[in-house]
Parts: sequence; C-alpha cells; structure tokens
Amino acid sequence: MKPLIKLTGFVKSCLLLLPITFLFYPFTKLMLFLSYLNKLLVWIYGNKKKFEYREPVAFNRNYNNRYNLYKYISDNYLKDNSEIVYLEFGVAGGTSFKWWLNENKNDSSRFYGFDTFEGLPENWGMFFRKGDMQHQESQVQDNRVKFVKGLFQDTLVPFIQENRGDLKSAVRKIVHMDADLYSSTIFVLTQLYPYLQPGDIILFDEFNVPLHEFKAFNEFIKAFYIELKPLGAVNNYLQVAFVVK
Ligand SMILES: C[S@@+](CC[C@H](N)C(=O)[O-])C[C@H]1O[C@@H](n2cnc3c(N)ncnc32)[C@H](O)[C@@H]1O
Repeated sequence: MKPLIKLTGFVKSCLLLLPITFLFYPFTKLMLFLSYLNKLLVWIYGNKKKFEYREPVAFNRNYNNRYNLYKYISDNYLKDNSEIVYLEFGVAGGTSFKWWLNENKNDSSRFYGFDTFEGLPENWGMFFRKGDMQHQESQVQDNRVKFVKGLFQDTLVPFIQENRGDLKSAVRKIVHMDADLYSSTIFVLTQLYPYLQPGDIILFDEFNVPLHEFKAFNEFIKAFYIELKPLGAVNNYLQVAFVVK
C-alpha cells in the first residue's frame, strides 16, 4: 500500500510541475456530463422497481403528467385533506403552486413559495439564460399563502429562523424543488436537511437533468447519509418524488 501512496504523491508532484492534463481541460464539461448521465442511468436502473407509482418510459413527453404524480401523492399520502406545510422553490407563474393550493383545502395548511420572480439567477444549460422565466409575483387570495421574494441564498436562512417552529412541527412537509439549477437545488436541500422528518415528501421537477437536479440530489444523499425512499416517477423520470425515511 505504502509504495502506491508514494507513487500517487510522485505523480501529483510531476503534474504540478508539468500539468499536461491541461490538454483535457476543454473536454471537462463533456466528461462531467457523460459521467453524470451514466450515474443517472445507473441510479434509475438500480431503483426503478422501488417506485410505487411509475409511468412507463415514453417517446412523447407530456409535461401535464406531473399532475398524475401530484394526485397520486395527494390521494395516498395526504388522505382526508390532512394538514401540510408546502414549500415550493421556484414558483414562477405559480402553476404547480396553485395546483397544490387548490388540492389541499385544510385551513391549517401553510403554503410558502420562494422565487426571485426576476427569473433564473444564472444560465441553465444551453437553452435558458439568466433572467429567463421572469414572472409577476402571483396574486393569490388565500391567507394560508406566503411568497418569499428574493434569491433562496438570501431568503431561506432568515425564513428558517422565523419559522423554525413550523418546520420542526410534526406536520408533513412537501418540499417541491422546481428551481432547475444545481446551485439553487443543492443550497435548499442542505439548508432544509435539519428540518426533514420521516414522512416528509421531496418532489423534483427536473430530476433527470444530469448536471443540475440529479447532481444536487446525488451529492445531497451522499453527503448527509439521508435515506430517501422512491415514491413516484413520471415523464421519463423528469418529475420524481421521494419520501424521507
Ligand atoms: C421552472 S421555474 C418554476 C416553475 C413553476 N414551479 C411552475 O410549475 O410553473 C423556475 C423558477 O426558479 C426560480 N429560481 C431558480 N433559482 C433561484 C434562486 N436561487 N433563488 C430564487 N429563485 C430561483 C426562477 O426565478 C424561476 O422562476
């Protein structure tokens, strides 16, 4: 073992003096993408049978199928309109937010929506630019709702401090991750980790994007040793839900 450690040390010294691996630098993004694409596929093949609700792989994606997953969760996990704390990260025009608001009529439920409402804070992949998805803050006449405007990185920590009681209560939390970006997703998951309890549900809206939500999910479960039980998947694993174990 020791000679091997010495050899790695020697190779590292050589590379510091003559960094020939710079030759591969232009391909870093591609290699990372391929690596995470494979991790994603391996993860799906290893876990697909564990999902209790799973729609078959289809060539025509229908974004509205995400409501089938929401409905499954609502009918099977939130029976009799049970009280929930719903936290959505990435509200934009409020389409998914309003679905949950209309579905759960419990007077004691709370619905928190986080967004800059000024669009994405950075470019997302090849097709979406910083500032895309800008929307007016939704006007909702429901006193169970609170929108938290601003970057999650600025608003979530003060929100947690103010609402610790709510987050620590036994009421089931639905954490809906729809911010698309790796940075936003990893930030939120790591901040919410201390408040996640068995039975809480985490929903991803773009799970099968290798270098964004999937990468954040993968690093989160590995860094925190948290067990998330697969619950449901639709749209070729684009929308995926887990229950905290
Ligand atoms: C795909 S949209 C949300 C769509 C919405 N859930 C729906 O179903 O209609 C993504 C949103 O995430 C927001 N977002 C992404 N990262 C953010 C961050 N770090 N802080 C605040 N908002 C962020 C963007 O402003 C954008 O409105």
